[in-house]
Amino acid sequence: MSFIEVSDLCFGYAAESEDEAVREVIHHLSLSIEEGEFVALLGHNGSGKSTMAKLFNGMYLPQSGRVVVDGMDTADESLQFEIRRRVGLVQQNPDNQLVASIVEEDVAFGPENLGLPPAEIRSRVDQALKAVDMYEYRDHAPFKLSGGQKQRVAIAGVIAMEPKCIVLDEPTAMLDPRGRDEVMQTIRTLNREKGITIILITHYMDEAVQAGRVVVMNSGEIVTQGTPREVFSQVELLKRHKLDVPQATELMYRLRGAGIDVPADILDSEACIECLSALCKKEA
Ligand SMILES: Nc1ncnc2c1ncn2[C@@H]1O[C@H](COP(=O)(O)OP(=O)(O)OP(=O)(O)O)[C@@H](O)[C@H]1O
Ligand SMILES: [Mg+2]
Repeated sequence: MSFIEVSDLCFGYAAESEDEAVREVIHHLSLSIEEGEFVALLGHNGSGKSTMAKLFNGMYLPQSGRVVVDGMDTADESLQFEIRRRVGLVQQNPDNQLVASIVEEDVAFGPENLGLPPAEIRSRVDQALKAVDMYEYRDHAPFKLSGGQKQRVAIAGVIAMEPKCIVLDEPTAMLDPRGRDEVMQTIRTLNREKGITIILITHYMDEAVQAGRVVVMNSGEIVTQGTPREVFSQVELLKRHKLDVPQATELMYRLRGAGIDVPADILDSEACIECLSALCKKEA
């Protein structure tokens, strides 16, 4: 069995008034996520990504269908605590997630709620802050940190719970390029070195190409999934669903449109430069 098994899942938000029907936003969605995978979840605004993030860790429960985490059905309320321990959620805005006035107290908040002994809490907080490269800021005030630093502290707070899986909902949306790089570097290290399963929700295609698998949603359904190469070579399908492709892929797509014979599966600038310089040399 996969680490997360979503089967035939339907979910809708409660109606605001009596004469309004429940609006279903996730429709019969099935998805399996293996332990140790790095999955990017894409989709234009309102396609249901953040709703899925909360369904993955049992914060929301299916109206029908099932979400099973590490063999545990999220609908079983007695397992809620165990499920949230295994799947940590980092929300889009770190300001909503940081609660304490000192960085290390903030990171300790989760492990304290797990009822761990003080020495274990101390060791987890130190390790988590080191993992996101924020240990030297442990006695700083979170509100004085930059956006990237705050987001890394929020990630440390989740790491300190030692989850097997971390779901990150647009963790870099508010960051400048440097802050985005810092957070992406942290995510890659957690996945590769610690084997933590990553589900990354993002609107940035250059982040999605770093995942092992890309899942594309539209209106509460999965429209395509596969390796970044498989997904981003379907430029027209993605454009139909109001999504971009990585810049290098877009350039190659346009060159092909202009009758130039270049590959469809180029994802980054290095491969793009290699291809174009080979082409220029051939012409010369
Ligand atoms: N708390 C809520 N109550 C009612 N409807 C909601 C609520 N949260 C989301 N929705 C609706 O559910 C649908 C899916 O929203 P969701 O936030 O999951 O999309 P998303 O893919 O995360 O979008 P974005 O890229 O803008 O973050 C949207 O139509 C949205 O309006
Ligand atoms: Mg969202």
